[in-house]
Amino acid sequence: MILDREATRAGYDAIAASYAEHFRDELAKAALDRAVLGAFAELVEGDVLEVGSGPGGVTAHLHGLGVRVRGVDLSPAMVALARREHPEIAFDVGDMAALDVADAALGGLVAWYSLIHVPAGEVPAVLAEFARVLRPGGHLLLAFQVGDEIRHHDEAFGHRVSLDFRRLQPDDVAALLDAAGFDVTARLVRSPEPASLAPPLPQAAMLARRR
Ligand SMILES: C[S@@+](CC[C@H](N)C(=O)[O-])C[C@H]1O[C@@H](n2cnc3c(N)ncnc32)[C@H](O)[C@@H]1O
Repeated sequence: MILDREATRAGYDAIAASYAEHFRDELAKAALDRAVLGAFAELVEGDVLEVGSGPGGVTAHLHGLGVRVRGVDLSPAMVALARREHPEIAFDVGDMAALDVADAALGGLVAWYSLIHVPAGEVPAVLAEFARVLRPGGHLLLAFQVGDEIRHHDEAFGHRVSLDFRRLQPDDVAALLDAAGFDVTARLVRSPEPASLAPPLPQAAMLARRR
């Protein structure tokens, strides 16, 4: 587990700048993602945390919609980059499996293509951590690629890395959310955008509410 986290952290530290450049305009091209984030922004009240916020593009989008949001990421290079690009938003280094947040302190939590790096056996504990920090009625938003396999990358953007990208099935995620104390309120499965890393896979977004 520690090795896995260290590899993920080191991988994103290495690719932070290239990743930010590659995906800079992703949201501008993804109308359905903006629709989901817009609905989340309308529904949510109070403080919101994006876990695995990366370069902070999604965090900044939510901030622009009036959401009181901050970001947490495992990679110090990603956090430094997000702080530089979005100085009006707070970003901290942290692990979504052990958040430095009081019980029931949040009205919303977003994990936008970040749960994909959590080993399958740890996902229930991570969802329990999300449930712990959300108040009853709080909203959770997840995004992930749909599939069954783990895609391992030894190289990304010209850097040597060791990164695992785990595809997930919406039915499996819904069952895990239910077990962690969430009611699923919406799910969207859409076609991939051209900029997505090869091979293109369907993309899912799921909204859930803390019971
Ligand atoms: C695919 S990127 C997504 C970044 C951002 N949400 C976006 O959509 O552009 C995944 C991010 O999750 C972060 N991450 C992976 N495991 C994490 C963990 N256990 N806790 C916090 N962040 C994590 C990585 O460092 C990386 O920045």
